[in-house]
Amino acid sequence: MPGLSFSSKKKGRRQAVTEKPKPVAAQAVKDPLESFARSDFLESAGYYGTQATMLRSTTAQTGGLHLAIAEAPTSARGIFCGQDATTGWPVFHDEVTGYRIKTISSPNVVIIGDLGVGKSHFMKTWGVMRHLALGRRVVVIDKKMQATDQEDRDHEGEYAKLARTLGIEPIRFTGQVGGLKVNPLDPSITSSGTLAAGQTELLKAILAEIIQRPLNARESKALRVAHAAALERSEREQREPVINDVVHFLLSPDPKVVAQQRGSFTTSDYLEWGTDIGFALEECIDGDLKGLIDGPTSSEIRLNSGLTVFDISALPDNGPAVPVVMAIINTWVRNVIVQQKKIVPTLFCVEEGWHLVTGNFAKISQQNTKKSRGLAFGTATAYQHISDVPSDSPAIATIKEAGTVLLFKQARRDDAEQCQRLFGLHPALVETIMKLPQGCALLLIGSRPPIVLKAIGSELELELANTDSALHSRAQTGLDGQVLGAVEKEGAIA
Ligand SMILES: Nc1ncnc2c1ncn2[C@@H]1O[C@H](COP(=O)(O)OP(=O)(O)OP(=O)(O)O)[C@@H](O)[C@H]1O
Ligand SMILES: [Mg+2]
Repeated sequence: MPGLSFSSKKKGRRQAVTEKPKPVAAQAVKDPLESFARSDFLESAGYYGTQATMLRSTTAQTGGLHLAIAEAPTSARGIFCGQDATTGWPVFHDEVTGYRIKTISSPNVVIIGDLGVGKSHFMKTWGVMRHLALGRRVVVIDKKMQATDQEDRDHEGEYAKLARTLGIEPIRFTGQVGGLKVNPLDPSITSSGTLAAGQTELLKAILAEIIQRPLNARESKALRVAHAAALERSEREQREPVINDVVHFLLSPDPKVVAQQRGSFTTSDYLEWGTDIGFALEECIDGDLKGLIDGPTSSEIRLNSGLTVFDISALPDNGPAVPVVMAIINTWVRNVIVQQKKIVPTLFCVEEGWHLVTGNFAKISQQNTKKSRGLAFGTATAYQHISDVPSDSPAIATIKEAGTVLLFKQARRDDAEQCQRLFGLHPALVETIMKLPQGCALLLIGSRPPIVLKAIGSELELELANTDSALHSRAQTGLDGQVLGAVEKEGAIA
């Protein structure tokens, strides 16, 4: 009935409503107490509200007045990612569930964005903590050093606080004598390499990284023969083979193993082919890679817990240490998983991932990535810009094939355009990518339409994912170099 918003059996009340065209508020201004005492119940039911005049129309006409109701951008299956910034719908997705429900065909994730836009924050919350809550295994290579507010600790990787809060001690590589080692000849990296890159390929990539060029055919052959001799000797001596065995047999080829090879080449031929790489490897083991790969894998390095953090933030940025250790860990983790009886979905998270996908290790990691589906093994890599990866690198294909892509802000137009082209996005999205605020990203799930995602975390997640503590430091230095004050508790803004 026009003009009646609330039906009441009491006659007087009904009249009061229909006979009151003027807004109740206007009367209330006159004398609120004089008219009648308001009931809380009727107030909450809208009884006293002003009433719009009814408009007669047809359903065909009013159909045009309905606001569009947006469809949910994802199903409700998967890990909570945040909110669709356009429609407000919650967004759910993760690389394991997405693969199971066939929204993606690759479990690999790529995260791209400028400095400080929220890549690590997203990796730590969505990529690490929420997977752990579902009983999945997460392995992190932590490359970025983070200031600590604890005076008794050295600066360490940015995942240290998160790991310790969950009761896990990060595995820290320092590259110093007595520090942790990871052995490229570890027996758990099978030489047959059926499901992951094998030892010989790993050795070749390490050497190519050291000499900064690919091995030629003769060097490659000398290395294979030295590797075979090293495995044979360690088996005879019932111990784990180590890299020094390879150096030894490059510089003194084993006549027995040489005799088993095709062709009529002598140990002198093998010595000639292997001398340069033998010396280079020896020098690097005593220099840039000192204490890192020259012995059996340290017993602390295990994949027993749900979360394993390899902290390599203390390794020098330049030189072969970071890419060599990253590649060995990547291959070792995959092989350990292959040998497990019950496969637990495992996520391998790497920040500053170009070390893995460029240069001499690109082939190794591409090979590992291709075999990842069968192992329920997903790799999440974060980069700042696509331009960090050379256009002719196999990494470009690896990035393109990722099932899940998060494009955070790329302020420079050419960076944004490169992403738009690489992922085949509509050109209008270049502007969107350039203007994304901190914590927002364009989420690409398989071939589905892009979602502008606002990443949301709980209070605990925000605290554990915070990387701003150093910039919140109130410590000051005097002209005499004396430092006053300390790093403020995180969240404190000057
Ligand atoms: N979704 C978010 N919600 C709230 N705060 C956020 C969010 N994303 C990022 N931040 C804030 O931004 C800071 C920087 O984010 P983060 O460390 O993730 O940047 P980044 O992209 O990894 O930068 P870099 O390239 O330097 O590693 C975080 O410490 C956090 O305070
Ligand atoms: Mg980061």
